[in-house]
Amino acid sequence: MNFNFTEDQLMIQQTAREFAQAEIAPTAVERDKKGEFPTEIIKKLGELGFMGMMVSPQYEGAGMDTISYVLAMIEISKVDASVGVIMSVNNSLVCYGLEKWGSDFIKEKYLKPLAKGEKLGSFALSEPEAGSDATKQNTSAYKDGNEWVINGMKNWITNGISADYHLVVAQTDKEKAHHGITTFVVEKGTPGFGYGVKEDKLGIRSSDTCSLTFENCRAPEENIIWEVGKGFNFAMNTLNGGRIGIASQAVGIAEASLDAARNYSKIRKAFGTEIANHQAIQFKLADMSTKVEAAKLLTLQAAALKDAGKKYVKEAAMAKLYASKIAVECALEAIQIHGGYGYVREYLVERYLRDSKITEIYEGTSEIQRIVIARELLKD
Ligand code: CAA
Repeated sequence: MNFNFTEDQLMIQQTAREFAQAEIAPTAVERDKKGEFPTEIIKKLGELGFMGMMVSPQYEGAGMDTISYVLAMIEISKVDASVGVIMSVNNSLVCYGLEKWGSDFIKEKYLKPLAKGEKLGSFALSEPEAGSDATKQNTSAYKDGNEWVINGMKNWITNGISADYHLVVAQTDKEKAHHGITTFVVEKGTPGFGYGVKEDKLGIRSSDTCSLTFENCRAPEENIIWEVGKGFNFAMNTLNGGRIGIASQAVGIAEASLDAARNYSKIRKAFGTEIANHQAIQFKLADMSTKVEAAKLLTLQAAALKDAGKKYVKEAAMAKLYASKIAVECALEAIQIHGGYGYVREYLVERYLRDSKITEIYEGTSEIQRIVIARELLKD
């Protein structure tokens, strides 16, 4: 696969890099400490076209390809993985799904403001008892005239508090199991829609995560995405693309860990020389660098297949599985290279470790990615 990036792709990468340094880096440590949502940053990312990167200009998107999205996600996540996940959910789980499977009405009313970054979206699939086993939806919806009445609870919803529009997955016909699941757009503030507590997380603390509650919450018929009974297929197909976003986020964290370790090893002295001169450190850096490159290539491969209109289910799962694994490994090695300094908040590497762990869990755990890969491998 040839990854000679185009001028446009390189320009997007450069824009993301400069924006991350100038606008995200200065507040990243403080926001992580306080668990503060980056409202202004997300607004500016919207103005740059980064909240609806792959949406066509017809719907107010930036009309970029998935490769550009990967390059931008890496640069943003390298500086702040919290901003990375907010951006990823809006781009790949919300905007992508609405453009591909939303009606004209939904695209006009909901996709346009989401793609412009004027509004923020969430993807509400997970439940207290339906995480990996996503078909076991307890949230239900029944039809009442021209509306659907939703009851239930969603858990661990990224952007849960800040989002304006939520894509809510619900069981509409229990008899039909996963073919009786439907996805609705629910607006924040709809009567019967409520919030649970904000989660106090190990990492990605500047993004918000909470549970959502639905008590006789009404969504009009026209807010159904795709069609009745297609909600689970919608969620699965959307998550395939989401996994490219999370793989990119993980690559960004891994690259940040490598850069921090490399820079530190060139200034820290032990046994009469910079530690970068010790083979023990060199081997760690060599392994980290190799892993980062491999993860990046897997992620770009999945993106290139998606851009070419080819199947990318297996490749996206492989990219997420591997990139999330090495993000944790690289963050751990960066701490080891920093020694005691790596264990305290004065240096950034402890945050990289805290931020990396979730990439092995959300948008399908590593165990789920292996199931997806194995099933694709054994097909035919
Ligand atoms: N792509 C497209 N379709 C898929 C698919 C995929 N990767 N995986 C499954 N499907 C489809 C199947 O084709 C099947 O469709 P049909 O019946 O219409 O043919 C249907 O889904 C059911 O599939 P299975 O019979 O394989 O169902 P299963 O229960 O054995 O396994 C699973 C399904 C793959 C384990 C699925 O439940 C899954 O992916 N679980 C993980 C859920 C997940 O990723 N959650 C993340 C939450 S969102 C999040 O984290 C966002 C955030 O906030 C950051």
